[in-house]
Amino acid sequence: MSTLHLDHLAWATDTHRWLLRDIDLHVAQGEFVGLIGPNGSGKTSLLRCAYRFSQPASGQVRLDDHDLWRQSPRWSAQRIAVVLQEFPQEFGLSVRDVVAMGRTPHKGLFDGDTLEDAELIAQVLRRLGLDSLAEHAFATLSGGEKQRVLLARALVQQPGLLILDEPTNHLDPRYQLELLQHLRGLGLSTLASFHDLNLAAAFCDRLYVLADGRLVASGTPDEVLSAELLQRVFGVQALVDRHPLHAYPRITWITQA
Ligand SMILES: Nc1ncnc2c1ncn2[C@@H]1O[C@H](COP(=O)(O)OP(=O)(O)OP(=O)(O)O)[C@@H](O)[C@H]1O
Ligand SMILES: [Mg+2]
Repeated sequence: MSTLHLDHLAWATDTHRWLLRDIDLHVAQGEFVGLIGPNGSGKTSLLRCAYRFSQPASGQVRLDDHDLWRQSPRWSAQRIAVVLQEFPQEFGLSVRDVVAMGRTPHKGLFDGDTLEDAELIAQVLRRLGLDSLAEHAFATLSGGEKQRVLLARALVQQPGLLILDEPTNHLDPRYQLELLQHLRGLGLSTLASFHDLNLAAAFCDRLYVLADGRLVASGTPDEVLSAELLQRVFGVQALVDRHPLHAYPRITWITQA
């Protein structure tokens, strides 16, 4: 299991528009950390820096105390698995083929799948309730099924760090809960962005709040999710109390009558 540190990170577009500034964030071993913030606040951009896709203009990304940009893309891919907001256009590939792609960073150029690979892939497909879909074409699946296949691909990668951009996007309530319970059960170091703040409150150990490319709050869901912060950052009135059955905060949005 890995640790991740972003230290004083800043990132700008090719046209020199600053989209992230003064980012200090860490994920401890086995910690499940959530990233929340309005549309366009920079969540996806921050995650891209964390998985060695966007190179920061300044500051550092460290995985297990290695500077990520001094390591090869392959080194990163062997340690970090990513599930993104958008679906890849995997025309023609079966579910099993897409999941098997998760093994690529661990193989040489001409290596085929070993028996261990096949067993691991079968195991993960089973765990995510995907075995009956294994031979289906990925392109024909529903959004929620695709999301689970991409998570399966990330898990067969056997990463030390998991990065998820809105992992519950497209999922119905049952699969949202199952997926997050499953992820928590893995005990992997995880950094995930969320729009559903009640899910973030229920499943994250700690949260970071991004607004306009800067982190404006961090802490446990209890510390972070106040009505005042939700008004200030999201511009929406909310009532924050406690979930009737659990210890975490519950957010009820107040709509205008
Ligand atoms: N490569 C890029 N070049 C130019 N602008 C970019 C680039 N990447 C992101 N942006 C802009 O940066 C801002 C932040 O985008 P980002 O996708 O990180 O937001 P987000 O918090 O993930 O939003 P959402 O909740 O909608 O997914 C947006 O205004 C976006 O248009
Ligand atoms: Mg995004």
